[in-house]
Amino acid sequence: MKKISIAGAGTMGMGIAQWAAQMGHPVILFDTSDSALQRAENTIQNNLKKLAEKGKISENPSEISNRIFYSNDLTHIAGSDLFIEAIAENFDAKKQLFQQVEQLTQDTILCTNTSSLSINKLSSTLKRPEKFAGLHFFNPATLMKLVEIIPGFNTHPTITEKLISLMKSWDKVPALAKDTPGFIVNRVARPYYGEALKIAEEQLATPQQIDQVMKQLGGFRMGPFELMDFIGLDVNFTVSYSVFEQMYFDPRYRPSILQQRMMESGRLGRKTGIGFYDYRSQNPPTEIHPLTEKTANTIFQRILSMLINEAVDAVYLGIANPQAVDNAMMYGANYPKGLLQWGKEIGFDKVKALIDELFDHYKDPRYRASAGFYHIHTLIP
Ligand SMILES: NC(=O)c1ccc[n+]([C@@H]2O[C@H](COP(=O)([O-])OP(=O)(O)OC[C@H]3O[C@@H](n4cnc5c(N)ncnc54)[C@H](O)[C@@H]3O)[C@@H](O)[C@H]2O)c1
Repeated sequence: MKKISIAGAGTMGMGIAQWAAQMGHPVILFDTSDSALQRAENTIQNNLKKLAEKGKISENPSEISNRIFYSNDLTHIAGSDLFIEAIAENFDAKKQLFQQVEQLTQDTILCTNTSSLSINKLSSTLKRPEKFAGLHFFNPATLMKLVEIIPGFNTHPTITEKLISLMKSWDKVPALAKDTPGFIVNRVARPYYGEALKIAEEQLATPQQIDQVMKQLGGFRMGPFELMDFIGLDVNFTVSYSVFEQMYFDPRYRPSILQQRMMESGRLGRKTGIGFYDYRSQNPPTEIHPLTEKTANTIFQRILSMLINEAVDAVYLGIANPQAVDNAMMYGANYPKGLLQWGKEIGFDKVKALIDELFDHYKDPRYRASAGFYHIHTLIP
């Protein structure tokens, strides 16, 4: 595979373009906005310069950036081996773009970087759905190793195979996923936020205390609330709501009213200066009152068990194999360990017992242990 075209020069498109160029490909980066193209060019050049200064790339940065051609003219994508769409998350806009792209290409593999739209629904609008698949990168695309590969029902198996081997050759970790809401990461990660928010709503601990527990006991790089502030509460809520809605309002994915109200008030996290934490003042953060060891353990085990439950369910439903689920969370969400590996170490019986206990306590089907626990030895060898 040689020539790579990318549509959308925003956060994701520019990251993917930079990485493809670093991997030696000639790249066309297309956007309808000239200012977006200019911004992408500046950002990529700066990034490459910094990488060279740190000795992280052996090639001359200008050689790499010269491989990228920035264009507001879609016809430049003709003759590409691979086209990756990374424009705004809007079904009609993507549909329209792919229709134009299909007129300009014949054998090009067509991919979308969508996080939440149905691959099969998009593929139904194409003339050559057998050449189309989801290719889902994570932000920042140059650093995050995970790429979810999502074939639709009509994707030809050779296309999936080609994408898997291309991602391996790009030093990425491909994870094959079924076309289901949130694919792997955005589905399995839901309880990290959802359960933490529920614990805060129940006033069992403050967001700061919960963050501390997850970092200290779990080894997570960021606590759930810090992470929501970082991602943006609006973005995180939108993903949560989209998965909930697409799962036909399954209570396991019920979003949090606390998060919704925070978002509505404009407290979106780092980008607005305030979210669960206040980033505006220069004062040192107030001291966090430590929880008792028992409470800390209860909170940690509750969130982790709900995460493991999602991971087991994803395997049970054939969304991905155990290795892909574990890789997804480590390489797409920086988890310190794969969730299934973690479950194995704790004992899946214990995890299930804890979820059953939560169910008995709350009488809420949110705490529904996956039926996968009954087949755990065949599912997770
Ligand atoms: N941001 C993330 O963390 C992330 C992670 C994985 C996947 N995604 C997905 O990647 C896609 C892009 O997300 P983003 O965060 O980079 O968005 P963004 O808003 O940063 O960039 C989108 C770019 O697309 C351009 N654009 C919009 N409509 C266009 C069109 N019709 N033709 C050409 N260019 C057009 C815009 O000018 C903009 O530069 C979305 O589908 C999103 O769901 C985002």
